[in-house]
Amino acid sequence: MRSGPLVLVNRQHPLAEEPRQLLTAADERYPNILLERQAARLLAACIQAAGGAREIVPVSGWRSQAEQQAIWEDTLQRRGEAFTRQYVAVPGCSEHQTGLAIDLGRAAREIDFIRPDFPEEGACGRFRRLAPRYGFIQRYHREKESLTGIACEPWHYRYVGTPHALLMEREGLCLEEYLDWVQTAPRTCRLEHGRSARVFYMPCAGDETELRLPEGCCQVSGDNRNGFVVTVWEV
Ligand code: DAL
Ligand code: ZN
Repeated sequence: MRSGPLVLVNRQHPLAEEPRQLLTAADERYPNILLERQAARLLAACIQAAGGAREIVPVSGWRSQAEQQAIWEDTLQRRGEAFTRQYVAVPGCSEHQTGLAIDLGRAAREIDFIRPDFPEEGACGRFRRLAPRYGFIQRYHREKESLTGIACEPWHYRYVGTPHALLMEREGLCLEEYLDWVQTAPRTCRLEHGRSARVFYMPCAGDETELRLPEGCCQVSGDNRNGFVVTVWEV
């Protein structure tokens, strides 16, 4: 229930455990910026498809609790409390700690670590438009601020995988809303080459839940709330 690409991490839902996923360099030129393996592979593919190998640089990926704490304290000291609460998640409540989030910036001599420039134009804009096809969403939108608790962050991308990123984009939902939406009914997403995917929710009952999974290619992800999202790919 606490791991997988759809885990919700925010102020109301702190990280339950350190990520079990394997981490790898988000970009081989930046070996210290780490991301979950599948997310790193798809990030590279999306940057390449956007023609952004030179223009787009990773700024911040996986963060330990200690790193998030240091960023929180440093920002608090430099920029004050209101700014910090808008742009830095409370330590223990940052999705950077899952290894599924990455801040991206436009390559420049100086890059603002907390608010990197990631414009609408050029390769950054192309990346933004392609991202859902590669399983990434812009996590913090202005109009969702009251739900996410974080200000608009055009540079912060979260890997949720497909079809979820496509459905979230199609329906205009942030992750908080999406996890409610999939609970109300099974959902279908048409994919390329005539394939489709079905998404449904399994609430968790007690400490142990038996999942009866359909035949075929399927994925189960915890939501860090009260159940699992099951995804089945159909031909
Ligand atoms: N900037 C995002 C909210 C974080 O600190 O996780
Ligand atoms: Zn971020």
